[in-house]
Amino acid sequence: KEFNEAYRPQFHFSPPSQWMNDPNGMVYLDGEYHLFYQYYPDSTIWGPMHWGHAISEDMVHWEHMPVALFPDEFGYIFSGSAVVDHNNTSGLGTSENPAMVAIYTYHDPEGEKAKRDDYQTQGIAYSTDRGRTWTKHENNPILKNPGIKDFRDPKVSWVESNDGTGQWIMALAVLDRISFYSSPNLIDWAHESDFNPSWGAYGGVWECPDLFPLTTADGEVKWVLFVSINPGGPNGGSATQYFIGDFDGSNFNVESNEVKWLDYGADNYAGVTWSNIPKADGRKLMIGWMSNWLYANVVPTENWRSAMTVPRSLELIKKGNDFLVASKPIKELEKLRSSTETVKGENIALREELVELELIPKANDFSIEFSNAANEKVLISKKGDVLTFDRSQSGKMDFSGDFGKIHQAPIANEKIQSIRIFLDRSSLEIFVNGGELVLTEILFPNSPYNKVTLIGFENESKLHYLKSIW
Ligand code: FRU
Repeated sequence: KEFNEAYRPQFHFSPPSQWMNDPNGMVYLDGEYHLFYQYYPDSTIWGPMHWGHAISEDMVHWEHMPVALFPDEFGYIFSGSAVVDHNNTSGLGTSENPAMVAIYTYHDPEGEKAKRDDYQTQGIAYSTDRGRTWTKHENNPILKNPGIKDFRDPKVSWVESNDGTGQWIMALAVLDRISFYSSPNLIDWAHESDFNPSWGAYGGVWECPDLFPLTTADGEVKWVLFVSINPGGPNGGSATQYFIGDFDGSNFNVESNEVKWLDYGADNYAGVTWSNIPKADGRKLMIGWMSNWLYANVVPTENWRSAMTVPRSLELIKKGNDFLVASKPIKELEKLRSSTETVKGENIALREELVELELIPKANDFSIEFSNAANEKVLISKKGDVLTFDRSQSGKMDFSGDFGKIHQAPIANEKIQSIRIFLDRSSLEIFVNGGELVLTEILFPNSPYNKVTLIGFENESKLHYLKSIW
């Protein structure tokens, strides 16, 4: 099928039709990357949640699959994760054919209506045919609610202990904290600890956590905890903060003591990482939902709503005594390049819609402006220690008073080494210095931007035109 409607992303994942939000259950198995997602197949606005499903061999080209999980007597199927149970700890598969197990939140709309506080619980489902068909577990819900309304988004991973044994660890968003649970078998769970440092960002409810180790280029290992928060993001609405520290199998001990943001753009939310990536690959791969709860339900697309970010590979970088998580576009995206030009001069006519730029700044400050004949434009500019992303004249904006804004991000007051930009039909992603600073933003120009004005860049900068994935 050709997905070619106005604003339909051409190299980002979007659902065939209808509503999508968070990416869920990302897991790799036998040459296939699975992507499940919050899906409402009956409308382009949020409603009773299902898990939609897609499969890819490269995380770039996707095949849409039938809906994987439907609501049942315990409620809607909210966000969660998936693992491959190689040791058959759950007994749901065999060691020759291990089960793929999805761990997700049940949201019971009846309980919500009755104003109970225990209507979010955790359930599991399993597949023994590489994610094609799913069976819900007979003992659902496997983790009951202790009486806290917001109790959701389980992210499960296998954590090895020093003695070579291991256990399943679940990071769960519980109102304003992350609770950690452990299990030997994915079915019985014990509470281990809670994490909610006084200085965290608490502008809204905590959602969609992820906990995983990352290693620096020098071999230093730190544990990273992602926590999405809505609202309270640095540029309004929903955004993802992260913490760096250590996990001892029971407690997350944070080492940094300032809030760090994975992305300063308005449109990267609820992102979490793939599980079961082969050791030989070694990457930590994530994808995020490319929208914001401020306006996700009203963006001007017709048959579907929302797309995912480009997949990113996460890297731990040491800066002095501090650490940061950089997000790099995955290398598989380079396959999309159809032609490459060296950028000369300041005004560049864009002959095609799908563009990647690799820019080398000449001095401390610079600016990049995409525009069309109707004088709709988006301006990205660096001045001193501020990076500004201005979409206040970018095109359609009247669907929400929260959309047409100027966003800002802190940046080093020095010459930047590299800027990489991906422009799709309705999004722009900016990766500064190999992803140390990222801005992901959606846009709705009335006609494609067909000109880019580059001020303050070297002549070796490059422009690639990209192919559609559909
Ligand atoms: C995050 C979120 C999750 C929840 C899901 C519901 O965007 O609110 O906390 O599980 O969306 O669709």
